[in-house]
Amino acid sequence: MKKIAVLTSGGDAPGMNAAIRAVVRTGLDKKLTVMGIQRGFSGLINGEIFEMDRRSVADIIQRGGTVLRTARSEEFKTEAGQKKGAAILNAFGIDGLVVIGGDGSFHGARALSKYGINTVGLPGTIDNDLAYTDYTIGFDTAVNTVLDAINKLRDTSSSHERVSVVEVMGRNCGDIALYAGLAGGAESIIVPEKGYDINELCRTILEGKLRGKRHNLVIVAEGVGGANDIAKKVEEVTGIGARATILGHIQRGGSPTSNDRILASRLGYRAVELLMEGKSSKVVGVKGGNVIDVDIDKALAMERKFDEKLYNIAIALSY
Ligand code: F6P
Repeated sequence: MKKIAVLTSGGDAPGMNAAIRAVVRTGLDKKLTVMGIQRGFSGLINGEIFEMDRRSVADIIQRGGTVLRTARSEEFKTEAGQKKGAAILNAFGIDGLVVIGGDGSFHGARALSKYGINTVGLPGTIDNDLAYTDYTIGFDTAVNTVLDAINKLRDTSSSHERVSVVEVMGRNCGDIALYAGLAGGAESIIVPEKGYDINELCRTILEGKLRGKRHNLVIVAEGVGGANDIAKKVEEVTGIGARATILGHIQRGGSPTSNDRILASRLGYRAVELLMEGKSSKVVGVKGGNVIDVDIDKALAMERKFDEKLYNIAIALSY
């Protein structure tokens, strides 16, 4: 292994820069040549490849987004696009590739490995929706961004004695809603893994009011969606004013938390180690606090388990 490359793909996530920095500096520390690929697989196909040195990743550990930029490439989903990507990597003499991204990006990495490119995937997504790892890079920052919003919404919800329905990201995964809801003391957490009943929600809200609650926070994961409709229905049924807030892409930005920077640094380091050990088609992650690696096929086939226990704790503490 002499020359490796790194790219970021799919939705950006805070901590991706810390991961790029870790890959580049570990590679250089181990006397490898490290190339950066811009705009994910789309940039790969276009040959947007340049050499990186220690200074190329200076002053980025604290920055959200990705200095390599990112994209979702339709062309790379095709066999022709993947072959083109592998040919470009060969033309540049790149022996190993680190792909930082989520589920879709890992499918891309797997495709390249089928054409003989050694690949290792790093989980970079705010969604925390990858089954093989306890946490993905960016999730902790996104949860804290939501938490900051919830704290503010609680103030106005208390002052007006209204219900605040907050819709958060996560694609089909309810983790951002669950973790932010628990940390923010939300009254109700609605996630796709559990579903919900509008009458039960309204009853919970009314019972809370009778017990003297002035605010009421309902966190809805985007996998369920419909925050505006939920707020409308709640107001109609309970007679209590309700407002919806859809947090949107604010959750994807911002300076990464220490947890995300440390996770990114540990996983980036391990990814390069794996490539140097001659491993391929692997993804790295964290389980029970330890850095692990898993075969990409196995990781992609694993079904994510919702944390029922954490959900039950959040409900038990909510009223
Ligand atoms: O995967 C990250 C994520 O922010 C999801 O939570 C959300 O469903 C999606 O990306 C939004 O995608 P886009 O950036 O295309 O709006």
